[in-house]
Amino acid sequence: MTDLHLRPRGLACYRVSDTNMLAERAIRSLLAFTPKPDALVITGDLTDGSDPREYAVARELLSRLDMPVYLIPGNHDSSAGMREAMQDFPGFAESRTGKISYTADIGDVQLIALDTHLPGAAGGELGAEQLAWLDSTLRAGTKPTLIALHHPPALSGITHMDDIGLSDAEALAEVIAPHDHVERLLCGHLHRPIIASFAGKVMTLSPSTSHQVVLDLTENGPALFNFEPAAYFLHYYSQRTGVVSHMAYVEAFPGPHHFFADDGVVWPGDEA
Ligand SMILES: [Fe+2]
Ligand SMILES: [Fe+2]
Repeated sequence: MTDLHLRPRGLACYRVSDTNMLAERAIRSLLAFTPKPDALVITGDLTDGSDPREYAVARELLSRLDMPVYLIPGNHDSSAGMREAMQDFPGFAESRTGKISYTADIGDVQLIALDTHLPGAAGGELGAEQLAWLDSTLRAGTKPTLIALHHPPALSGITHMDDIGLSDAEALAEVIAPHDHVERLLCGHLHRPIIASFAGKVMTLSPSTSHQVVLDLTENGPALFNFEPAAYFLHYYSQRTGVVSHMAYVEAFPGPHHFFADDGVVWPGDEA
């Protein structure tokens, strides 16, 4: 999941996006899923303003999940604010200073969580130190690996979002390209479902659980949001399938229906 943009209780985001209610619906949808997912990874912008009252809403919401929850900051969070408020979440103790980066084993898959938050900026940066850590971490293992980072390294064609992308994407490409066990880059920030290749890997970008960025591929199109269906990705792994990424919707929709054959159906014009 990504870009929950939680606000202090009772406040909407940008006046019209009730992000707390929409995040609640996303969590409900996840809780209803069978089989139960092994973990939830939230790829940043957990809060809208990195306010302690927003992290308090996040803690209450996430406490309802009976699975590990892995967090990384986005540009709307701050590494320091998230570390302070969510310090008991997995990986935070492991990464003691500066960036929040850590590894976790989720079943047969390894998660590498990276922090692209850059104080005072909407764009993101990994930084040389974190890239060196990523390099040594990737060299140390061969488990199928998902790398989570808020800012997508690949461009989308949505100009106003690409302008606030990841500044050291080229350096990231050099680090990950040699490693066949990197199965996915899991990103957020764009508030749209996007799939792209980056450094020979598959990058999936999940929609937000609340408002989405308008699909506008005209050059220098305006920055606008709408309420296209909220969704998240379910990443499934088995030895038979490898990593398969399914998009799942937050809201209810018609169905399911059976694929019954047409036996007994009277076609128009065939009436006796
Ligand atoms: Fe966001
Ligand atoms: Fe963002």
